[in-house]
Formats: sequence, C-alpha cells, structure tokens
Amino acid sequence: MSRPAAAPPRGERDRLIAAARAAVGRAYAPYSRYRVGAAVLSDDGRIFSGANVENASYGLTLCAERAAVAAAVAAGARRLTAAAIAAARAPAPTPCGACRQVLAEFAGPDAPVYVAAARGPVRRYRLGALLPHGFAFPAPAARRP
Ligand code: THU
Repeated sequence: MSRPAAAPPRGERDRLIAAARAAVGRAYAPYSRYRVGAAVLSDDGRIFSGANVENASYGLTLCAERAAVAAAVAAGARRLTAAAIAAARAPAPTPCGACRQVLAEFAGPDAPVYVAAARGPVRRYRLGALLPHGFAFPAPAARRP
C-alpha cells in the first residue's frame, strides 16, 4: 500500500486551495481557454500563487505550478510543504510531468498535492506518487539553507 501524503493543518490546506482558486482568475490562457491557478505552501507558513501564462508561440507557455514555484523562490522560500492546483473547468489539472519534477526540487516526496476541478471534491496526491523516481542530486542545491 502506498503511503498517504502528510497533510498540513486543515486551516492551511483550506487557505492553500483558496489561493489556487483565486489565482485561476489571473490566468492568461487565450489559446487553450483552460485557466489554471496554483499555490504552494512554504515551511514558514507563507503561500505563493501563480497562474498559467500562455504565449502565441505555444511552446513557451508557463504552467501555473511553475509560476507559483518561481514566486516562492523569488521571495526566498525554498522549502515547500504542499501545493494546490485548480482549474476553471474540466478536466482536473493534475500537474504535467515537467511541473512534477520542478515541484520535487523544492518539496519532499510526502508533500500533498491538492487538485481541484471546477466542481466536486478536492483530490489529494502524494508528490512521490505523482513522480516516482524523479531526478535529484543527492543533496539538492535548492533545498540547502
Ligand atoms: N496547465 C497548467 O498550468 N497546469 C496544469 O496542471 C495543466 C496544464 C496549463 C498549460 C496551458 O496553458 C493549459 O493549461 C492547457 O494545457
């Protein structure tokens, strides 16, 4: 049986999901019309959010998760303990492979990743279950104090 994700206190979880849902409204997604918001929680209790930023040159699109991680790192937060992702419509925004690897740079395998569709229950995954055998150097530079 797989290990459950280590859940943050209920209040922090709710704040994190609310931040991801709020960020959906700031998405720039004129091409796919699939608006995504993401939020990450740092080990000092701060929440950083991001939204997807598309581009006319489609391949340059930035996912909401990586925008949120970049906001955290730019503010000095390198230890992330949970993430939440929300979308305005179906399907549920389970993070793409690239975003899983980027999340794993700053969060451990037990970190919960909450995925919220427009309606219905919020699903919780363990980052290590979303990205088994992700690449890492033995002591990730990003996690150094
Ligand atoms: N997208 C995200 O931002 N996060 C996800 O988890 C899934 C996909 C974005 C990328 C692109 O702007 C749009 O959703 C459609 O793929």
